[in-house]
Amino acid sequence: TAAQKGGYPHFMLKEIHEQPESIRATILPRIRKGVPDFTADNIPGSIFDGVNRIIITACGTAMHAGLVGRIMIEQLLRIPVTVEIASEFRYQNPIMDKNTLVITISQSGETADTLAALRLAKEKHATTLSVVNVKGSSIARESDYVLYTHAGPEIAVASTKAYTAQLACLYMIAFQVALYRGTITVEQGAQYIKELQAVIPAIEETLTYADTMNDICKSLVNTEDLFFIGRGLDYALSCEGSIKLKEISYIHSEAYAAGELKHGTLSLITEGVPVVALVTQENVSAKMISNIREVRARGAMVIMITNGIADADDTIYDYNIKLPKTSDSFAPFTAAIILQMLAYYTSVHRGHNVDQPRNLAKSVTVE
Ligand code: G6P
Repeated sequence: TAAQKGGYPHFMLKEIHEQPESIRATILPRIRKGVPDFTADNIPGSIFDGVNRIIITACGTAMHAGLVGRIMIEQLLRIPVTVEIASEFRYQNPIMDKNTLVITISQSGETADTLAALRLAKEKHATTLSVVNVKGSSIARESDYVLYTHAGPEIAVASTKAYTAQLACLYMIAFQVALYRGTITVEQGAQYIKELQAVIPAIEETLTYADTMNDICKSLVNTEDLFFIGRGLDYALSCEGSIKLKEISYIHSEAYAAGELKHGTLSLITEGVPVVALVTQENVSAKMISNIREVRARGAMVIMITNGIADADDTIYDYNIKLPKTSDSFAPFTAAIILQMLAYYTSVHRGHNVDQPRNLAKSVTVE
């Protein structure tokens, strides 16, 4: 399998490095004349007619992609979007009708709970659109419409390139529906597509931070608890950063909406507890900095991830990882790469089985 790993020590690292290519393969075939075009996917604009509510349902990392997608779709469309954990949703007698669009997200296309949620949506006459990586999988076959992620086979249990390809599809969906429904102009649509394409070189540059990340992760070898904090898109990303770290490094971690810290979690912040603070969103960066000061005052070890905010005073962090600049809405792509590397190198330094963590399976076909 050394050859299959393409010279990388683990599939996960290989897959992390494949992301410029997987994003390119996912977005380029869906751009025509500078704007999104799903004709080749057989997804007509008319499926969005009359939609007054969108429900995104998925499990694990795919569900976390949904949390990012939700924010993007709501911002551009002004239609309410909720994200539901598939294993909860299916037992809640959820409210859906023919004006509901249900988006299921799945790398494998075989996750039992996600498939059951999809079947329920169809029973209730919702329109179903799935974002799936594996061609011809059950979820792909049973959905009304499929927008495939072209991430290629993902072997490591911890999902990396499938997640960012899911984000890319959700952004494309947001742009496409917004254009179709006229909530953005063609010029705006073209601008968004340009920014999405600019994510590819930005990811390439982020991948060059590997040595830095490797070094930073040495300080987490003996960590028992860690917190991820963020607001808005950064909170959605924190959820993904936290699951990734837990899955493969076995460090207990929590993702917290930064403004919610003082309502409980602050009592857990003591001398030396690492806090990964995501500060990629300008509109809430001042609030984030004040949240960082709160944890800092309790002795937290702060790893700050920023996207071109004015240099924060260097007494509030131990490390400041400066992402290659993208516009704020697109920072989830570059920040995700940093969080993946954080989990990966920490797991390596702790000597765990990166590609096959204990107790976890790549695809969960039991309920
Ligand atoms: C498993 C995997 C996760 C994945 C989840 C959903 O738990 O270990 O990495 O996010 O299933 O899988 P799916 O194939 O539906 O995206």
